[in-house]
Amino acid sequence: MKHLISIEDLERDDLERILETARALDGIAGSLPTLAGRLVVTLFYESSTRTSSSFELAAKRLSADTMSIKSAGSSADKGESLQDTVLTLAAYDPAAIVIRHPQIGAPLTVAGHSAAAVVNAGDGKHQHPTQALLDLYVMREAFGSYEDLHVAIVGDVLHSRVARSLIQAPGLVRAHVTLVGPPSLLPRGIERLGCEATSDIEALASADCIYVLRLQQERMEYAYVPSLREYTARWGITPERLRAGQKIMHPGPINRGVEIDSRVADSADALILEQVRAGLAVRMAVLHDLLAADVRVPQTAVVA
Ligand code: CP
Repeated sequence: MKHLISIEDLERDDLERILETARALDGIAGSLPTLAGRLVVTLFYESSTRTSSSFELAAKRLSADTMSIKSAGSSADKGESLQDTVLTLAAYDPAAIVIRHPQIGAPLTVAGHSAAAVVNAGDGKHQHPTQALLDLYVMREAFGSYEDLHVAIVGDVLHSRVARSLIQAPGLVRAHVTLVGPPSLLPRGIERLGCEATSDIEALASADCIYVLRLQQERMEYAYVPSLREYTARWGITPERLRAGQKIMHPGPINRGVEIDSRVADSADALILEQVRAGLAVRMAVLHDLLAADVRVPQTAVVA
């Protein structure tokens, strides 16, 4: 595997290998020498807390040199194109470039202008493959398997690269996925990807896992819902809408009191912080897979 741009780039074996590596790396204290002397650049043209911090920490835990660039404050502010920024950074000979950009396809531009392995950390509403990988990892940890689960994804599916990546993940082929939300936020024809779509909030009742999405107002060019208050009343996830034992996931950031009630977000059934925690191991595994696939994960070789 040269790049990770879309979850569709992965065969089932690739997915399993990455998740197994993540499991081996999960909880390892200290750093591994795997990527010593190599450079990992993170290049973010959109806001991020979880993805940017976990990629940076993942690279450091593998002993890579890191360079973290946010578009705000960079020469993008002076009109430099993505292509020229990548050509500039490529002069430092990075082993990997992790890119988040509002434009669909931006990771392909990066791949076309550098020799580095490219990881898509989110391009517009298209793909966020490492989020899907960490979500599958957490589902497997919580349920023993991510197959044969019934996952209800509820909220702003239309603008969600997370939902698209998760639906297309090869491991979820045997899972039962139901998309739930206002008709205006359910993409027409999404059922072609092998899921169901409904605006009936009662559809949550039979799900094992409720995956909540935030309203991505930054991607909305007009009002898709009458008001936030009405959205919350009809689609917000409250304890009253859940049954005992259902697990709650959310890619973050959460908007408390809008798509998710604090009593749900902070409940024992919420896996939201597990998702954040898993992000580190899974992103270490992705960097390992792209850059050091021929190096076995040492079980004991931990550098202080
Ligand atoms: N889930 C996710 O991508 O979060 P950030 O925007 O904080 O990176």
